[in-house]
Amino acid sequence: MTQTLSIDSSERLQLSPLMVPSRLLLGPGPSNAHPAVLQAMNTPPVGHLDPAFLKLMDEIQSLLRYVWQTKNQLTIAVSGTGSAAMEAAIANVTEPGDVVLVGVAGYFGNRLVDMASRYGADVRTIKKPWGQVFSLDELRTALETYRPTILALVHAETSTGARQPLEGVGDLCREFGCLLLIDTVTSLGGVPLYLDAWGVDIAYSCSQKGLGCPPGASPLTLGPRAIEKLHQRQTKVANWYLDMMLLSKYWGEERTYHHTAPINLYYALREALRLLAQEGIENSWQRHQKNAEYLWEKLEDFGLTLHVEKQFRLPTLTTVRIPEGVDGKAVARQLLNEYDVEIGGGLGELAGQVWRIGLMGFNSRKESVDQLLQVLPQVLHKP
Ligand SMILES: Cc1ncc(COP(=O)(O)O)c(C=O)c1O
Repeated sequence: MTQTLSIDSSERLQLSPLMVPSRLLLGPGPSNAHPAVLQAMNTPPVGHLDPAFLKLMDEIQSLLRYVWQTKNQLTIAVSGTGSAAMEAAIANVTEPGDVVLVGVAGYFGNRLVDMASRYGADVRTIKKPWGQVFSLDELRTALETYRPTILALVHAETSTGARQPLEGVGDLCREFGCLLLIDTVTSLGGVPLYLDAWGVDIAYSCSQKGLGCPPGASPLTLGPRAIEKLHQRQTKVANWYLDMMLLSKYWGEERTYHHTAPINLYYALREALRLLAQEGIENSWQRHQKNAEYLWEKLEDFGLTLHVEKQFRLPTLTTVRIPEGVDGKAVARQLLNEYDVEIGGGLGELAGQVWRIGLMGFNSRKESVDQLLQVLPQVLHKP
């Protein structure tokens, strides 16, 4: 007879009901979800093919089109985190041998390089020091040199806090006959984005930052030129779960079973998007900008230096130079352990050099900034 494994008795004694500390999440994400979003998540699930759920999926689609400012029919939420949506974007429009040009000015540019190469792309890169952005002239030269089928850029580079301007990039891509693929993980909801006006062909994002929702349901959109590329593929999309030819049958008119959607996360996403629509997307962008400027001013008053030049700074994520002689990790640890405030450390090339402070979605409020400013003197040992 098969013996049932038992849990160690000492472990069993420690298994109390779930208890998680309450934190103010001012790191690079996740950010705290709006209480109404958590409430919505608590609603008992219906089936993933229930007409009520299908209606909710339709609502998510149209709300996503609004926050992204696009008319793209194929706009969905991928069941997974931002990386799943990123992989979906790459997997669907990349075929082995395609030249994919990636702008690398931070950690997530490198992730795009890794993903595209795994799908057989002939990956080329243009690089900038971390914290800087590409000019239109630099992008034009790179397109002339590499003649890619896809140009991939990170709009909001979470590892550096820099915002890549996108005006004019879509026109350049049309001139050179390539698709424009954009990472909007740290911009959607908090930074102005006009996908159609800017000629973006493919974009993806996440739920846990500017949308103010828990992680796990990640927006993805494909415009007409991307769909044409998808239909002209010579090979199958090399990822079953993320294949938009299959997924679009679940999100589109056919409503064919594809996978069991994470129902409660979609409830949360729908509520987060509803709140955003109620606020108005432009108001949300302005709120993010205003609170970020308040943070920047106070940090500079405090004698701290910001890593990114003001005109390219993200309102959602600020990188602060760690002063000489200060143990950046110890400061972040103390903030978390003693004050329940999370901030992020540097990633990749900027590890040990910067802190990353996020003001995203529900957390982009003056009170969040004030809560941080109140404890900063203690952790930096300043009067
Ligand atoms: C710019 C960017 N792209 C992609 C990702 C990956 O998203 P996730 O961690 O939700 O998988 C992140 C995560 O922070 C990000 O900041």
